[in-house]
Amino acid sequence: TKDDLRKIHVLLIDIAMDAGKMMMAAEHALLTAAQFKNNSADVVTEYDHKIETMVEKRIRAAYPSFAFLGEETFKHGTKLGDIPTFICDPIDGTLNFSKGVPNCAVSLALTLDKRSVIGVVYNPFRGDLYHAIKDQGAYLTKTSTGLQVKLPVQPVPPPMPSLQSCLVAVEWGNQRSGSNWSLRTSVHNALLTSKAEGGAMCKSVRSNGSAALNFCYVAHGMLDAFWEGGVWSWDVCAGWIILEEAGGIVASANPGDWNPTLEGRLYFAVRHAKREEQRGVVEELWGIMGER
Ligand code: IPD
Repeated sequence: TKDDLRKIHVLLIDIAMDAGKMMMAAEHALLTAAQFKNNSADVVTEYDHKIETMVEKRIRAAYPSFAFLGEETFKHGTKLGDIPTFICDPIDGTLNFSKGVPNCAVSLALTLDKRSVIGVVYNPFRGDLYHAIKDQGAYLTKTSTGLQVKLPVQPVPPPMPSLQSCLVAVEWGNQRSGSNWSLRTSVHNALLTSKAEGGAMCKSVRSNGSAALNFCYVAHGMLDAFWEGGVWSWDVCAGWIILEEAGGIVASANPGDWNPTLEGRLYFAVRHAKREEQRGVVEELWGIMGER
């Protein structure tokens, strides 16, 4: 029910605030803390583990029958099911966090039938708490002042669905070879190349280092689109519902698939004034991705 969702939303915000305190307290000790996971671009800190342990403990105590899926405890082969599932990325943007770049966040979501229904993304370094419940709108709360605004904060762009008018985020992930990697580089290059008939393909490209925050920035209006090939559900699940509730759409990277769930591995997000008008930008991105 709506009340159940609201109760869980309050709990997730409370847990996110605790996680934020842990991130802030860690700041001074960060630089020695990073360890490599699969390669030198794939880092984890003791704070990722500590925060996920805290989140899992609190969630399991409150909702013992729900499933829990966390980035640091994920076992390969685990599939997201239809039952209510909490998904946790203790620190999205760990590389930023480990270097003291203040663009990272704890990202928490609840999914039903493999779709997000609650999302909470909190960057304690900016005091930005983005949150949403399905069908109840998306909000940014500034934790320093308690001020809460409905998303999108910035006016939506005029109903001109061209990629040319978009500031686009593209992320690099942590693989440096393979098909996902070559897709990322070719989309990045194409976005920064002139169109055949002249003019820019898009306004410019940003890589902020956190998929969760990129979703929120599109929801906010700071970015017009975000594209990433090969993300995991914990990177995007919370931002997904925040973006949708702000009037944005998430489309699969598979041309023609307007209705992805959290099961796939390729997503991108776009926001524009009206749903129909957003489709043009997605179609342009599909065009850039070309034959795969
Ligand atoms: C990563 C960040 C990064 C994105 C990667 C993610 P993590 O998450 O969101 O921006 O490019 O695909 O894995 O590892 O910092 O939680």
